[in-house]
Order: sequence, then structure tokens, then C-alpha cells
Amino acid sequence: MTTTPLTIAIDGPSGSGKSSVSKEVARRLGLAYLDTGAMYRAATWWCLREGVDLADADSVTAVVDTMPLSQSVDPDNQVIRMDDVDITEIIRESSISTKVSQVATNLEVRDILRALQRSRIDAERNGGFSGGNGIVAEGRDITTVVAPDADARILLTASEEARLARRAKDVHGTADAAAVEATKDEVLRRDADDSTVSQFQVASDGVITIDSSDLDFEQTVRAVLAAIEQATA
Ligand code: DC
Repeated sequence: MTTTPLTIAIDGPSGSGKSSVSKEVARRLGLAYLDTGAMYRAATWWCLREGVDLADADSVTAVVDTMPLSQSVDPDNQVIRMDDVDITEIIRESSISTKVSQVATNLEVRDILRALQRSRIDAERNGGFSGGNGIVAEGRDITTVVAPDADARILLTASEEARLARRAKDVHGTADAAAVEATKDEVLRRDADDSTVSQFQVASDGVITIDSSDLDFEQTVRAVLAAIEQATA
């Protein structure tokens, strides 16, 4: 039996639940999973490790262009390495979260990472981890810039309140008032910084929007699966 490879593009702001939902969708459909935010985080970690001033756009570009990144696309085993250093956990720390927008708003860095992302997508359509089944690629500009030709393009949104509560739970293990307050600055500042990249403006044409504010995890996964079915019917 031959299968037609699938490319699923999912975008959304931080706290929309897109990473965990995208991973689960990839699992259920037997697809690879590409976390493009992790690539921007890894690039930021590498620049800091190399002692590059993040405000020096040319040096940042040069260092990112040669970074020795390896990233698994197995939804059950996400490992990100730079050379032989496992940076899977460290790139989630707030020392990276608070600086990543500086790297992600560098348009030459975006070109480099977009080419990398595109090659990972093409590799999965032709074989790779998924054996040619395809990939779920998740980020901010996948539906618009990286894979505007994807078989399904989904924008996962959630209210600010829901996003703050989820992020607080991720970082502090609780969404009580103090935890929400502690994550508020980071999330809202990153939203503002990220929004300076015009590529994040999602074309409404053909993109299916899912608001997950009032959905639990399973309901969101099902809504995404239904959207994929609708887009590929
Ligand atoms: O999804 P995340 O929080 O791991 O993303 C980290 C940062 O990378 C975030 O500030 C937005 C940026 N990003 C981006 O500019 N383009 C993408 N395709 C994915 C993430």
C-alpha cells in the first residue's frame, strides 16, 4: 500500500497548547513532529554559549549559520543536541525564553532556519523517521512562510487568560494567582516582541482557526484531527 505523505502546519502563540497538541496529533497519525520554536531556542543557546552579543545581528547570523544542531522528529523522544551536548531541557529555561525573540526577529536567521525546516519537512515526505508518512510542523510562521503549501494549515489560538494559566502550570506546576502573575511579564513581552515579525500575520485564506480556550487537551486534539480531515477530504 502506498500512502500520500502529509504535511500538517500548526501555528499559534505561546500557551496555546500547540506543542503538546501537535505532538499528540503526530503520534496518532504516525507522522514525524518538528518543533520549530526549539530551533530558535537552540540557536539562542548556541549564540550565548559562543559569547555572541545578541544585538549584533551579523555575528548572530554567522554563528547560527554554522551551528552543529541535531534534532529528533520522533514525537515520543524529542532530543535536541548541539554537537554532543544535550540541550533538550536547558533551552526551556527562562534565561533562553526571555532572549529568544532577539534571535527570532533577525530576518537572516529566519531564512537559515526556514531552509532547515523546509529540508526536514521534505525529508519526511520522502522517507525519514516517518517512512514517508509526513510531518506535523509547529511554530509561528509554518502556515504562512515555511509550508504555505501544507495539506492542512491550522491556527491554534486561546484567550490571554487561558494562555497565561497554561504557561504558569507548565513553569510553576500551578495556575494560582501568584504563578500567573509570575509568568505574565514573560508571556506578554514575548507576544509583543514576536509580533514585530510581520511573517506571523496569518493569512486567513485556507487556514483553519481553532480556539482552545474552553477545550481540554483531548478535545483540542480531536478538533485538530477533525480540521485535518476536513482539509484533506
Ligand atoms: O514556541 P516556543 O515558545 O518554543 O518558541 C520560541 C520562540 O521562537 C518564540 O519567541 C517565537 C519564536 N518562533 C519563531 O519566531 N518562529 C517559529 N516558527 C517558531 C518559534
